[in-house]
Amino acid sequence: MKLYKMPLEERWKALEQLVDKEALEILKKDNQLPFEIADRMIENVIGRIQLPLGLLTNLKMNGKKYLVPMAVEEPSIIAGANKATKLTLPEGFTAEADESVMIGQVQLKVEDEKKAIEKLETLKEEVETIGKDLSSGLEKYGGGWRGWRYMMLKTFRGPFLLIEFLVDVSDAMGANTINTIAESLGSFLHEKDVGVPRLRILSNLAVYRKARAKAVWKKDVIGREGVEGVLDAYAFALYDYYRLATNNKGIMNGIDAVALATGQDWRAIEAGCHTYSAITGFKPLAHYYKDKEGNLVGEIEVPLAVATVGGATRTLPHAKASLSILGVKNAKELAMIMASVGLANNFAALYALATEGIQKGHMKLHARNIAIMAGAKTPEEIDAVAKKLAELKNYSLEKAKEVLKEIRGKA
Ligand code: MEV
Repeated sequence: MKLYKMPLEERWKALEQLVDKEALEILKKDNQLPFEIADRMIENVIGRIQLPLGLLTNLKMNGKKYLVPMAVEEPSIIAGANKATKLTLPEGFTAEADESVMIGQVQLKVEDEKKAIEKLETLKEEVETIGKDLSSGLEKYGGGWRGWRYMMLKTFRGPFLLIEFLVDVSDAMGANTINTIAESLGSFLHEKDVGVPRLRILSNLAVYRKARAKAVWKKDVIGREGVEGVLDAYAFALYDYYRLATNNKGIMNGIDAVALATGQDWRAIEAGCHTYSAITGFKPLAHYYKDKEGNLVGEIEVPLAVATVGGATRTLPHAKASLSILGVKNAKELAMIMASVGLANNFAALYALATEGIQKGHMKLHARNIAIMAGAKTPEEIDAVAKKLAELKNYSLEKAKEVLKEIRGKA
């Protein structure tokens, strides 16, 4: 199915057979998010923003094919993901994810370290009971309390007794559950005179909630030069921090686009992924090596606190529609898809950068934006200007204006 070759109307028509009709109807609307809802979501609403929402059509993961909605403004991201995933077919990606275990933290200011610990030791059962009670609602979904520990944190502000607890939040992102428990434990420990609670909040470094994906790009498909090129690009990111940031940005291109499409807390995902890269020794989030046959193997491991229920996943109409199109049964499956897309976008960038460079493809796709900036109004005008700019290999705004004038002159 060559969706990118179809005009928008035709593309919608083609999708009617494949995706939930109601979801498609939501996405076709010019204004999906009513002001009344937007106004209740955040403070001082004055508008809504829009981004193009496109589809990754070639992802096969664990033997299943997916249509993956991605929201992003950069022209080459969905094109890159489509190319990278297509090159892994017919096998596609394999992926797995941990349970949805989140970390909560309670920071207690203490005067006397020894006394605080002694006191806490006598309250162990009660802490456990509070945690279990407050997370018992998650048990019917397979989640719930997963334990806790404490440690003394010595800082320039003196010692802090740190309580860290784990809760499996199932298909939610988990921030509300974790923060509620953290505040309750903080109050309880204050009441019992263990210490004065300061921060009571989840950790966005969701190391117990990682997703992993793997794919093989065959030597016969991408060529020996492709294999060697990607490995050289990977080595660059392994040994140079400036390259590492850009390399990981290419991974987040894919992860964030799915996060935005499906209504995730993308700031939490960004914070978690970059800190994870740092704690693993400032390493790229995805790794590459050659197998015995000389094929390129790519593997990614990323912490992903994502949700298929709660948060904005149901309040934002586009998120509801995207999740329906994606057809995932739980948050773990969504996380596996996001890890796969992150790996795909990383491969797409490294493969292009290490071989022909990205500007040729990027500028071809960007030409439509330049045409719009030059004043092209109708889809026909935009396409005609973009085509001419690509032919001329000149993507300047001046040239675009000139071409547009010429086209209008002829019309
Ligand atoms: C651009 O959005 C992303 C890249 O810079 C990623 C990379 O350099 O690996 C192309």
